Amino acid sequence: MNAADLTAVARQLVAGDKGLLAMDESIATCNRRFAALGIPQTEPARRAWRELLITSPRLSACISGAILCDETFQQSTAAGAPFTQVLAAAGILSGVKVDAGAVYLAGHPGETVTEGLDGLRARLAAYVRQGARFAKWRAVIAVGDRLPTLGCIDANAHALARYAALCQEAGLVPIVEPEVLMTGGHSLSACRDATECVLRGVFDQLQRQRVLLEGMLLKPNMVLPGLGCPAQETVDAVADATVDTLMRVVPAAVPGIVFLSGGQSGELATARLNAMNLRRETRGARLPWALSFSFGRALQHPALELWRGEAANVIPSQQALLHRAACNRAARRGAYGPAMDAA
Ligand code: G3H
Repeated sequence: MNAADLTAVARQLVAGDKGLLAMDESIATCNRRFAALGIPQTEPARRAWRELLITSPRLSACISGAILCDETFQQSTAAGAPFTQVLAAAGILSGVKVDAGAVYLAGHPGETVTEGLDGLRARLAAYVRQGARFAKWRAVIAVGDRLPTLGCIDANAHALARYAALCQEAGLVPIVEPEVLMTGGHSLSACRDATECVLRGVFDQLQRQRVLLEGMLLKPNMVLPGLGCPAQETVDAVADATVDTLMRVVPAAVPGIVFLSGGQSGELATARLNAMNLRRETRGARLPWALSFSFGRALQHPALELWRGEAANVIPSQQALLHRAACNRAARRGAYGPAMDAA
């Protein structure tokens, strides 16, 4: 894929007020969420859940792309249709998570680096042959006493940039995901400082590795206080801190920013995204990139709670997914209000 094609796919993923459905939880993470709801932690149950998600009627009205993990990428519906073909038929682009997960970073207690570069070129080529159009790699950054360190930021930024360059070489749009975690008691300003520092490091490395900024998407955290921080901020304070931070560090050439939800509730993640997009109108601050969503839990969780592994619950569960997707599509226009959820 050449530069024009990469740019077109990146733009397509954020076009029409749509966003991404992140359904790429690892087997271990998916099993943990199933266990909490008493759902069997088996391959057939994971397959059934992912089939429910991608066969939700009218999903493509709000969702432009779905991120799958390797297991899901290889799976098919009960009727035998490969998931990637089901998505393509619905007009939804298939993406795949290609990192191999985070491991402890030597010499840096409490910090991790994401692995998966070995053999990545060959794996990407295979995913392209199977229909992938984009990929994702997640780096995990903790905030704490003297964390994050520069060593952790450098190691993760370098890996993200190497991954992104390999994706573009293979013809895949890279989603670059440096996640500053919500875990901890840190303040909003600590998250803002960490996020700014991480994003500076990431864009520095992306440019050194000659990544085409027009042909990628950034998937960051929102700028939030830690879950254990006594001072939880208003929706507008979070929206302002997030947009101000991104304006300082994300080049205008990047077509879109697709937020992760990171453990926020569905309603709060939507309200914060809405406030960011509304800010453009009320403050006259034109944003250079689309502000969209690539939520996992904030899209899936209400649907998973309804499903609980029961075939009889498939339709209400799909309706719950479509409702959250529609709320987030509205948030992209600044048109979401709590009344949408009350209804
Ligand atoms: O890597 C994380 C997922 O793609 C997004 O999941 O919205 O639940 O944080 P989340």
